[in-house]
Amino acid sequence: MAPLSALLPLILALGASAAPSLLITPSAPTPSLAPCLTQAYHGAYGGQHVFLPSDACVASGAAGLLASGSLVPARDGEAVVWVGPAGVQGASGRAASDVFADISAAAQAFLPRLLDTPQKVFSAGSGSSSPVSLLHASDGANPALFISVPRAALPLLDTLLPPHYVPVGVAPSPVALGYDVPEHYARHLANVTKALRFRPEVATVVNSIDADAIRRDVRWLTGEAPSGIVSRHSFTEGARVAAKWIKEKVEATGAECEYFSYLDGFSPDVLCTYPSNSTERVILSGHYDSRGSFGSTRAPGADDDGSGTSHVLAVAEGIKQHKITFDKRVTLAFFSGEEQGLWGSHYWAKSLAEANATVVLQIQADMLAYRVPGEPLQLGLPATIELPEAGWLVANVSALYAPELLVGRTAACCSDHQSFISYGFPATQVFERAGWIADPMYHNSGDLADREGYDFEQIASIAKVTFATVLEVAGFHTK
Ligand SMILES: *[C@@H]1O[C@H](CO)[C@@H](O)[C@H](O)[C@H]1NC(C)=O
Ligand SMILES: *[C@@H]1O[C@H](CO)[C@@H](O)[C@H](O)[C@H]1NC(C)=O
Ligand SMILES: *[C@@H]1O[C@H](CO)[C@@H](O)[C@H](O)[C@H]1NC(C)=O
Ligand SMILES: *[C@@H]1O[C@H](CO)[C@@H](O)[C@H](O)[C@H]1NC(C)=O
Ligand SMILES: [Zn+2]
Repeated sequence: MAPLSALLPLILALGASAAPSLLITPSAPTPSLAPCLTQAYHGAYGGQHVFLPSDACVASGAAGLLASGSLVPARDGEAVVWVGPAGVQGASGRAASDVFADISAAAQAFLPRLLDTPQKVFSAGSGSSSPVSLLHASDGANPALFISVPRAALPLLDTLLPPHYVPVGVAPSPVALGYDVPEHYARHLANVTKALRFRPEVATVVNSIDADAIRRDVRWLTGEAPSGIVSRHSFTEGARVAAKWIKEKVEATGAECEYFSYLDGFSPDVLCTYPSNSTERVILSGHYDSRGSFGSTRAPGADDDGSGTSHVLAVAEGIKQHKITFDKRVTLAFFSGEEQGLWGSHYWAKSLAEANATVVLQIQADMLAYRVPGEPLQLGLPATIELPEAGWLVANVSALYAPELLVGRTAACCSDHQSFISYGFPATQVFERAGWIADPMYHNSGDLADREGYDFEQIASIAKVTFATVLEVAGFHTK
């Protein structure tokens, strides 16, 4: 990793000389790429590949190899963020330039107010005079943009986006030019799927998942039960209260938990690992931060992602209740900074990659609760961003242990599993629905649990699936 990038994690500029250029291109990298480009790869976002080549590399004409790309100047001290449609029906019909106009107007209107709260909850910096700027826009079936965001505005980026758009942070330092998740990971998961059969001992464990316990946890996280939490936006006190509560709750189930801090001011990830001598990791996660309505930081997040968070807590309770020990190293992870661009998962996945960790499976649970009245219980798997063998395994486990769930594919875009895919780890996501996002309270300050369509039974059913998948992949014993 570039030492300067390590020192200044959000700064894409390589020193004080001329500002470097970003190369953004739909052409996938090939093995014949010039080394100065392969070493400058920063990942794929919505089908666009991002490079940050040195001036010398650009001057040498290497960038010309990707003739279809655009070279745009990077801005000193700012974060680069991809913004694209979240997967709500109809939202992708807008022109990218219109989406940017909304973001720009919101930055002018909301930022000064949000940065100047008397409580000083937003301490990321001052002087938000430099507006969010557009680096690259692409229209077509999925209009998306790359924007440059001043450091002070990054914590509030979620509040500036039109409700049906989501951000993914562009890796601040180069990522390995993996053309795909390594083949051995896929073969291993295919093997697990092939050997799968109904096992009563797995059913006994996962059938103890309790929808009432999930209800209590969700309501605590939203503040509907008296917890004092009014928001879990990553920069609020509520997020820190939630992190401490989660840490203590999971520690009580026999895991060792730690805070993982990654960027100034964001509440930390909570990472909880059960004792094991194995070097092979299995990770189940949700994000405990949330996003409110356009221009607001009031984010109770019952569905997004109080549901995924509480589902992981339910798995932790099951591990304790059945005195489970795992063969592999199982981590239950609770990310923050998801709503500003997947930052919490990004930095942890990066640190795992730098440590040459073996992650045999990562599953992200994001929005499990909302069910359109009249529709069956459902489980949605990602239509695009996943390792296919991971999704197939989860679907096959679902048929065995939660046959009440209708399994399908969803266009819902961009949660923390993408960070793991970016660093070459096998990953997938579980979601509440096949098809488009349908929750009317999506990215809304009214995302509470006490409303029509919010279904604790569906969360519990999906928890049976992820729990059984972890048991199968990690190997387990009960006392
Ligand atoms: C998959 O199973 C085959 C046959 O059982 C075995 O030879 C192979 O080593 C396994 N591969 C992995 C990656 O587990
Ligand atoms: C790890 O290995 C040590 C030494 O063999 C052993 O004492 C310990 O019980 C093992 N821990 C687990 C969780 O298996
Ligand atoms: C990870 O692997 C690389 C390449 O094999 C090696 O250079 C590096 O020292 C390893 N890092 C750690 C922390 O083991
Ligand atoms: C079950 O796994 C197989 C691969 O082993 C896959 O082809 C199939 O689609 C999976 N089932 C479902 C319902 O996804
Ligand atoms: Zn979410």
